[in-house]
Amino acid sequence: MKVRKAIIPAAGLGTRFMPVTKSMPKEMLPIVDKPTIQFIVEEAKKSGIEDILIVTGKNKRSIEDHFDSNPELEQNLQEKGKTGLLKMSQDITHLGINIYYTRQPYPAGLGDAIARGRSFVGDEPFVVMLGDDLMMDKVPLTKQLIDRYNETHASTIAVMPVPHKEVSKYGIIKPENEIMPGLINVKSFVEKPAVDKAPSDFAIIGRYLLTPEIFPILAEQKPDKGGEIQLTDAIDTMNKTQRVFAHVFNGVRHDVGNKENYLETSIEYGLKHPETKDALRKYIINLGKKLEKQGKE
Ligand code: G1P
Repeated sequence: MKVRKAIIPAAGLGTRFMPVTKSMPKEMLPIVDKPTIQFIVEEAKKSGIEDILIVTGKNKRSIEDHFDSNPELEQNLQEKGKTGLLKMSQDITHLGINIYYTRQPYPAGLGDAIARGRSFVGDEPFVVMLGDDLMMDKVPLTKQLIDRYNETHASTIAVMPVPHKEVSKYGIIKPENEIMPGLINVKSFVEKPAVDKAPSDFAIIGRYLLTPEIFPILAEQKPDKGGEIQLTDAIDTMNKTQRVFAHVFNGVRHDVGNKENYLETSIEYGLKHPETKDALRKYIINLGKKLEKQGKE
């Protein structure tokens, strides 16, 4: 069956970015000039996804506004002859992809957010795309997962190696064997293990291709110690009755879910953006010299 649907969970409170997230969704934080969620939607589009469900929550209205039209702005741009900007605004509204929204009423975990997509997904395979991870590769990571699914018809989770001391921040796999290059048969999945208990350094990164059998499992899934329903726990349960593979991502992952990596990602994009790259490069080189001098003093 063709993979056509994606769920993007966007209900988190974004406390790591306080105070800005007090009234603004973290998904709308820009990388230079583009909200992070637009990168995710564009990846879905490039991967052939037709329908997206964004699971939102309170204070998230600006996400819907962003993908809607803005007649007042468009009229103004039209009158001023700013056709480039007008097109930019209209292209976001006419992405050629259907976007649906539902709300997660309480912050009850990633598993709970995905469970809200059950009737949207029906009995089709689908992808989950987390907004904190921006993925760069020639073929979008979501498309790579879809290609794997078309070969194996099995759920497939994107993973990549992370520094050992960071394993407690991720879902981690216990690999069994590599069945073809870059595709791992998984023994078990564990959410955020202690560094000394982690079964490997292969972390789940924010892209999942799941078969719809995950939904009855999520419905039965007990919350963890923190009261959250974990998607990783449901995937581990599913792996006991049907194959779930891990696909190793070889591209570049930008984690925009914490301040430090968010700033790094912004700089990397700023160095590529046509309007900022030259001035930013100059600034960074000068700043580097200044900091080096300070360091020697
Ligand atoms: C979530 C998942 C975790 C995964 C991570 C990837 O955690 O629960 O398994 O490794 O995303 O970014 P979060 O970062 O939301 O705590």
